[in-house]
Amino acid sequence: MSDSLTIIDNRTGKKYEVPISYGTYNTYGASIPASALRSIKSSDDDFGMMTYDPGYTNTAHCKSAITFVDGEKGILKYRGYSIEDLATRGNFLEVAYLILHGDLPNRSQLDEWEHEITHHTLIHESIKKFIEGFHYDAHPMIMLISTIAGLSSFYPMAGDTADQVRRTRQIHRLIAKLPTISAFAYRYRVGLRYSYPDNDLSYTGNFLKMLFKMTRSYTPDPILEKVLDVLFILHADHEQNCSTSVMRGVGSSLPDPYVSVAAAAAALYGPLHGGANERVVRMLREIGDKKNVPAYIKRVKAGEFRLMGFGHRVYKNYDPRAKILRGLFEQVFEATGRSPLLDVAVDLERIALEDDYFVERKLYPNVDFYSGIIYQAMGFPMDMFPVLFAIPRTVGWLAQWAELLEDPDLRIARPRQIYTGENERTYIPVESRE
Ligand code: ACO
Repeated sequence: MSDSLTIIDNRTGKKYEVPISYGTYNTYGASIPASALRSIKSSDDDFGMMTYDPGYTNTAHCKSAITFVDGEKGILKYRGYSIEDLATRGNFLEVAYLILHGDLPNRSQLDEWEHEITHHTLIHESIKKFIEGFHYDAHPMIMLISTIAGLSSFYPMAGDTADQVRRTRQIHRLIAKLPTISAFAYRYRVGLRYSYPDNDLSYTGNFLKMLFKMTRSYTPDPILEKVLDVLFILHADHEQNCSTSVMRGVGSSLPDPYVSVAAAAAALYGPLHGGANERVVRMLREIGDKKNVPAYIKRVKAGEFRLMGFGHRVYKNYDPRAKILRGLFEQVFEATGRSPLLDVAVDLERIALEDDYFVERKLYPNVDFYSGIIYQAMGFPMDMFPVLFAIPRTVGWLAQWAELLEDPDLRIARPRQIYTGENERTYIPVESRE
């Protein structure tokens, strides 16, 4: 058996042999180089064959050693470690180090890493003016996206993407400053004085304090601090999703990472991606009561709208992150009190998982189905949900960006199209047009 594919072009009867290459697994990720199809032509002046793949449903646009997802089996791994192992035994900054560096840190590496991140949490005072330029009710994700892009102007050397030391410095800054900007955006919206970073706290503990500290001293609830840490681990990377491919696409033209992260965050904001958890809670509120679930499912099946938090481009099985989140319910609700939306969510899930429409299409709950319920119980307003996704995902975006810049195959992202417009037309002056 040879590792190649034989293609016969029935237009010409010609035979082509195309090499097959593999990633880590031979049964997952076999591919052929798309450029090999270009030699398949029906005549000499033929451009050559392309593949048509809207939404990149079956196109690998890079080789990556960071995250592995087997959607059929419901497996997610960062750098070879299962998400279940990392979520139950690791902490977010340790996992961030793993995603960025390839290996788990030893004690001194972890101490140094935590020190680096903690000591970049402050933002230039002028950055607050970006946030304050917004109307009081601007969506915090819009404030975040714009402010991240604005950061670029504070670090002009960040555009030197070939310099690894400078690159690393921007990575530290972005991971450290995202919680500060996010918390400041929140405080501005609700009209509270900013609460500055506290370097003695954990990454998530500090974030909670910057958000929720009022006049008295504030100690984060250790359960909620840990739950948020797990949520951040689950959201840290997810291979070539919509926002990550935007990060790689923008990064491929070699701008500084601030504008690339801003672009990736904009992609995340959409309701079909990181905006879905907000929509889930709105949907559960709209359903309001368990008794209304069957009628709601009926409308979904009739094609009126989609069931938010269900379905995934890659997972055709239970999203492993959703399973971990479901397991956190007890501790969360013990700390926060039971969410009234929980009964509706559980019933909706039960009915959907039994229904032929969802079974046939392999539509299972995704991470967003549960994250919104947990965030809401923890006291986060709904429009902060995509922000809570963007903070940890910044780690994944930056790891993918750094990997892209080191990739010998790096080329500017520039897909092809199949032109379906007019062939040849002649300009007619406006006076003569009908
Ligand atoms: N509710 C109802 N039907 C659905 C849903 C849903 N949530 N998702 C997919 N379907 C149906 C489609 O209508 C389609 O049915 P058809 O074959 O009869 O036309 C079939 O399932 C396949 O759907 P596609 O749109 O082809 O699936 P795709 O892989 O393109 O979309 C997506 C994936 C965008 C996540 C989709 O499932 C969806 O819109 N889900 C709701 C939004 C959501 O929860 N997004 C969060 C994703 S996870 C994340 O970003 C972290």
